[in-house]
This record gives sequence, C-alpha cells and structure tokens, in this order.
Amino acid sequence: MLYSSKRKDLLTFNMAAVQLWITYAILLCTPTVQSLKWLSLASIPSSLSESQMEGIEDLCSRLTGLERRQKKVCRQHISMMSGVMNGANMSIIECQNQFKDRRWNCSMVDEHTIFGDIVNKGTREAAYIHAITAAGVSFAVTKGCSRGELSGCGCDVSKVGEMNGFTWAGCSDNALYGTAFSKKFTDARERVKNTNGRSLMNLHNNQAGREVVLKNMKTECKCHGVSGSCEVKTCWRSLPSFKQVGQILKQSFDGATEVKSKKKSQVGRMQLIPSSRKLKPFEVDDLVYLKDSPDFCEKNSTLGSLGTHGRECNKTSKNIDGCDLMCCGRGYRTIIEHVTDRCNCKFYWCCFVKCEECIKRVVRNICL
Ligand SMILES: *[C@@H]1O[C@H](CO)[C@@H](O)[C@H](O)[C@H]1NC(C)=O
Ligand SMILES: *[C@@H]1O[C@H](CO)[C@@H](O)[C@H](O)[C@H]1NC(C)=O
Ligand SMILES: *[C@@H]1O[C@H](CO)[C@@H](O)[C@H](O)[C@H]1NC(C)=O
Ligand SMILES: *[C@@H]1O[C@H](CO)[C@@H](O)[C@H](O)[C@H]1NC(C)=O
Repeated sequence: MLYSSKRKDLLTFNMAAVQLWITYAILLCTPTVQSLKWLSLASIPSSLSESQMEGIEDLCSRLTGLERRQKKVCRQHISMMSGVMNGANMSIIECQNQFKDRRWNCSMVDEHTIFGDIVNKGTREAAYIHAITAAGVSFAVTKGCSRGELSGCGCDVSKVGEMNGFTWAGCSDNALYGTAFSKKFTDARERVKNTNGRSLMNLHNNQAGREVVLKNMKTECKCHGVSGSCEVKTCWRSLPSFKQVGQILKQSFDGATEVKSKKKSQVGRMQLIPSSRKLKPFEVDDLVYLKDSPDFCEKNSTLGSLGTHGRECNKTSKNIDGCDLMCCGRGYRTIIEHVTDRCNCKFYWCCFVKCEECIKRVVRNICL
C-alpha cells in the first residue's frame, strides 16, 4: 500500500475517489440502527493509500458508518484507517468461515443492515462479532505497522538485542500498539453510556477479542550458520494467525457465560456478574452475553436472520450441521449432481501431468 512516487499518487487518486464516493452515496442514503455500523468500512477497497485518503476533503465526516467519537479518532489517526478497513474485512471473512456450519452463519443481510439487529440484542452472536472485529482491528493495524504500510508506527523496537539467551532481531509485531488503537476506535461508541448492561457487555467482548490476540503471540526464530547449524539464532515476536484467533473465539462462543448487570454497592456503577451462582466467574478473555439467541430458523431481515431454507445439511451428522437441527425439523430434499472432475492424474518425466476426466456423483441434502 506504500506508494512509490507522488506522481503515481496523483494519477490514481481520482479513480479511488470515485470508488469511495460510490460507497458513501450508498451508505449515506440508508440510515441504519445498529452499533457496528463501522463494519460497512469492510467493503471500501483497502488499496487506498494514506495520501489518497488525506486527499479527500473531510473524509472522516463523510464516512457515515462512523459514530461521532470514531470520527474524531479517524481525524486524529487518518493513517490508521486502512488498518480499520482491512480489520473489518478480514474479521467478517473469518467469522463466516468459523460459522459456515451453523444456522447463523455470519452472513450479512445486505450492505446497509449489515448483521441486523442481532448485534444490538446482547446475544452470543453479538459477543462474537464484537470480539472478532476488535481483534481484527488490533491485528490489521499491527500487521500494517510491521509491513511499513501505516505511517507513524512500525515494529516493536523494545524487542531488539540480547535478552533471555536469544538474539532478538528482525521485526517483532507491535501488538500493544495495534491493541491500543483498536481500543480507542472500537470502544469509542460505548464509553458514552457505559452505565447499561449492553455497553458493558460490548466493551468486555471487545477486550476479550484483543486479549486473544495478545495472549497468543508467539516467538519465531531463524537459525544462521554453516549448513543449517544453529550457531546464531535470531528471534522475533509474531502475531498468531488470524484463523487461530477466529477459532479460539469460536470456542469462547460455545462456552460463553450468561451474565446480568448489577449495581456495584456504594459507587452506584454497573458491573457484569454471572447470571446464576452455578456459573463460574468469567475471565477477561471469555465471551459474555445477556440474552438467549433466537433460533434463526426463519428469515427476519430486521433481526439479521436469513433462515435456513435452502441451506445444505449433513444427513449423518448429529450436530448443528446435521439435517435435523439445521432444517429445524422441516425436513430436507436430496439432490444428486454429476460433476466432472480431474482424476487418475499421472506425472510424466519430464515434466507434465496428464489426467482423465471422471464424472463424480455428488449427493447433496438441502433444507426445505
Ligand atoms: C473484503 O474485501 C474484498 C476485496 O476488496 C471484497 O471483495 C469483499 O467484498 C470484502 N468483504 C466484505 C465482507 O466487505
Ligand atoms: C423479526 O424480529 C423482530 C425482533 O425479534 C420481531 O419484533 C418481528 O416481529 C420479527 N418479524 C417477523 C416478520 O417475524
Ligand atoms: C449462509 O446462509 C445463507 C442463508 O441461509 C445462505 O444464503 C448463504 O449461502 C450461507 N453462506 C455460507 C457461506 O454458507
Ligand atoms: C457429515 O457428518 C459426518 C458425521 O459427523 C462426518 O463424518 C462427515 O465428514 C460429514 N460430511 C461432510 C460432507 O461434512
């Protein structure tokens, strides 16, 4: 995303501006009611360079997905906004990947409603979306800093030199920087009214997502020396893969704690506590929710449920991807498809591969 010359910059500017204008025009015309409106930034082409963004007059006010406080953060840190866009984009993709076998599969209803009301209802799905998108911004900003794509930040320079028997060199990901920025940006909306349970829940889950990124940082090393010997070893700290972050949060989704808000004695401020005495206390990186989820069986666009009519299901599975649960007891139909595939591939010396064409019979089960 670094631009090679000013001239190229000027040339590409107009096209990008036009694309961006189209995006605004769409966003501007349709008021939305949900708290994660900033996720609409996921669809802005992230190839916009910083100077292109700076070149668009009053960009931050025009991004209608942003709350007032987020606009302020945007103006102060315009160089980080492509990290926010990337973060939104990659977290939605990862969420869809993690939930592809569930009734609620993290599909956006459309580009205006995004995930619908479900993210305002204090459900587990809301918890997951808040956590993964906050993690996504931490992740994308940190990576952008490491790659030199975002100005004003870089690698973690505290991890250079000799320490704990390692030689630290190369670029350690500066996750603390990315995390601090994510906190500033994604928590911006909530701080205003942190007296209600839902805001506390969102703030907790945002933080849980960021904690998962921080807690799963790993040390990577490389050996230098004659023919693979490890005379000199240099190491650096690196983020986990984003897929791993998505997976860990998915486990937290399944084990999320139901909570309720309660007034702290004396001070009068609210806090979240487990909804029943039988539940163990939750940790900073656990997901919490206030309300049970709807069943997502039928379509309700306002709510953000697409329903499961027409979804593919697994006839032999007893889990949520099985036809009984996925189709909500409505039943399913079986279709048989014949697809052409390459098969019996042989490698010939040297160097080509020859395959035969086979017709494969594929059985698919589709919810009624
Ligand atoms: C993510 O970005 C890609 C490439 O710009 C785009 O095609 C895709 O629609 C974006 N995804 C979302 C969820 O906005
Ligand atoms: C959709 O869900 C909302 C919120 O739960 C509910 O009030 C509304 O009646 C539902 N609409 C339909 C068409 O079922
Ligand atoms: C998610 O569910 C919707 C509606 O049931 C469906 O249209 C969509 O293809 C599904 N997406 C994936 C990735 O399975
Ligand atoms: C369907 O479920 C069974 C049992 O859980 C599993 O072994 C199989 O791999 C699944 N099939 C597909 C296509 O996912």
